[in-house]
Amino acid sequence: MQPGQPKRKLRPLGILALIVILAAGVLTAINASRNWRATAAAKRLKNPVPPTAGAIAAGKQAYGEHCRSCHGEKGDGRGEKAGELSVAPGDFTDGQAMRRRTDGELFWQITRGRLPMPAFEDKLSDEKRWQLVDYIRTFADKSSAATPAAPLTSLLQAPRRLPSCPAPSGCRSF
Ligand code: HEC
Repeated sequence: MQPGQPKRKLRPLGILALIVILAAGVLTAINASRNWRATAAAKRLKNPVPPTAGAIAAGKQAYGEHCRSCHGEKGDGRGEKAGELSVAPGDFTDGQAMRRRTDGELFWQITRGRLPMPAFEDKLSDEKRWQLVDYIRTFADKSSAATPAAPLTSLLQAPRRLPSCPAPSGCRSF
């Protein structure tokens, strides 16, 4: 038995521990950068640009110049560049997903970007970015007009409808 052997045995363990610690750190960092959550304050930010016909038209123009290539003509995330991207662009026609987001949150996402989506903070003025929020909201409005999804408010209203029970066999109380 060589004298140095017990020491050498410890070394792989130390390296393993180091690798585990580094990997945990890297994963935490990746997770933080993937986390594209607007801060609570950003979410609450009110849209100062009401969705007038003019604002939507201006948003549409900016969208055609800066967003359409990835997010697609219809906002469904199927722009001509979408296939080359490492991450699929969001689907703005998804009414449920869009309703979960505040204007402030969309504004924040457009401002910051997240690779492969560029940040637009320096490329477009605040007003242009709010107009874009107004415009991208129209995609879901169009698609939900065709297939109305049950909004959260209808769930909240449901109990109020219970007293006038229309079922001929009587109503169960839950
Ligand atoms: C290079 C392609 C590209 C361009 C250009 C681009 N985006 Fe994106 N966008 C993406 C990708 C990819 C995502 C998804 C990013 C992710 O989830 O990590 C995204 C996500 C978003 C989201 C969040 C959607 C969601 O479901 O979370 C919004 C809002 C958005 N983009 C708006 C815009 C607007 C407005 C423009 C133009 C000013 C624009 N994007 C330009 C690729 C692009």
